[in-house]
Amino acid sequence: MTGTGAGAAGAARAVEPFDAVDVIVAKRDGRRLSDPQIDWVVDAYTRGVVADEQMSALAMAILLNGMSRSEIARWTAAMIASGERLDFSGLGRPTADKHSTGGVGDKITLPLAPLVAVFGVAVPQLSGRGLGHTGGTLDKLESIPGWRAALTNEEMLAQLGGVGAVICAAGSGLAPADRKLYALRDVTGTVEAIPLIASSIMSKKIAEGTGALVLDVKVGTGAFMHDEARARELAETMVALGTDAGVTTVALLTDMNTPLGLTAGNALEVRESLEVLAGGGPADVVELTVALAREMLAAAGRPDADPAAALADGRAMDSWRAMIRAQGGDPEAPLPVARHTEEIRAAATGVLAEVDAMAVGVAAWRLGAGRARKEDPVQAGAGVELFAKPGQRVTAGQVLARLHTDTPDRFARATEALAETFVVRDEAPAPRPLVLGRIA
Ligand code: URA
Repeated sequence: MTGTGAGAAGAARAVEPFDAVDVIVAKRDGRRLSDPQIDWVVDAYTRGVVADEQMSALAMAILLNGMSRSEIARWTAAMIASGERLDFSGLGRPTADKHSTGGVGDKITLPLAPLVAVFGVAVPQLSGRGLGHTGGTLDKLESIPGWRAALTNEEMLAQLGGVGAVICAAGSGLAPADRKLYALRDVTGTVEAIPLIASSIMSKKIAEGTGALVLDVKVGTGAFMHDEARARELAETMVALGTDAGVTTVALLTDMNTPLGLTAGNALEVRESLEVLAGGGPADVVELTVALAREMLAAAGRPDADPAAALADGRAMDSWRAMIRAQGGDPEAPLPVARHTEEIRAAATGVLAEVDAMAVGVAAWRLGAGRARKEDPVQAGAGVELFAKPGQRVTAGQVLARLHTDTPDRFARATEALAETFVVRDEAPAPRPLVLGRIA
């Protein structure tokens, strides 16, 4: 029918090599998608040719039927190809980055980035804001007066060349296909698909151009992955993707049944990070910071560096101050404090057996530390401060937690979230390791 009016209008549009429905049906029926199909569907979705409802159906088919390793690798490559790639080769020093799959009280990036930079390894840490019960690194740093998350690529490179560490917002140019797809997954019940999580995280990290990458894959009630087998599968998938892309990639599986450290909330977590940078801080935060720093340094060719010494002797703190100042922040300025507090006390005497990470995350979120929609503001001072960790002896009436918020009508729902959280028993619980496994 060429030459008709309809044909002429059609000829103005590019002819698409595939039909979205055929791609959806192939995955629905459990078939492997071909490389050209994957390249096309990711690109066509980014261009708006594949509709949201079609990509939703495909994402659900992927969640239900999975993808082979080679399909995941191709999908990741297609997401990388949707945007720009950064290049740090001109820096003249190795680069290493860390990614955490997200947990409650997970402030490790804050002390870790400046700590690793002490040893001449540049840390380009592109981070996000929190959504739901896990806090975002940028939200935490934004509680520091003057600090600014948005840097141009040139500013980021200059800071990496000078200070050596940068924590900033990922620009919209990196893997734009992921940005669009992640927002869609969030509202279609398809976030949990391992092929989609792995390709989402790794497309951004590979496009960012880091030479080495350490993944902190969380397992437990406060994490994406509640069981260890699935967390291991995710970690193995991401390590394979990174390695195949030429990025030295290692993953640690770490416990997220209990919050990390004693704080969950933006300024509260900055305060605790400062304790770690000053050579103190909670033992679990120090342990994980040092373990991840060792992995990053080894992966970047500095296996003999001693990160624990750099925390103890003030070098990491100096590096932190330089990093904060370079982004307009005042490292000496007092941190914001919430206007109202309320305490939760132990109901019985005994040993604290459990402090559920998810419940603490939800409480901090309800107090105003997190957001329900991505455009919501967060309260810098809001959150939960803990005074005991599992295994510690407590007496009835002792303060176990302090809740912080600027809006006291939030206390009731936060307290409700914590109703079953502080479990006191006669016997101490079996100690649980923080680092559960390593995948390289
Ligand atoms: N973080 C990401 O960047 N993507 C996911 O899919 C999940 C967590």
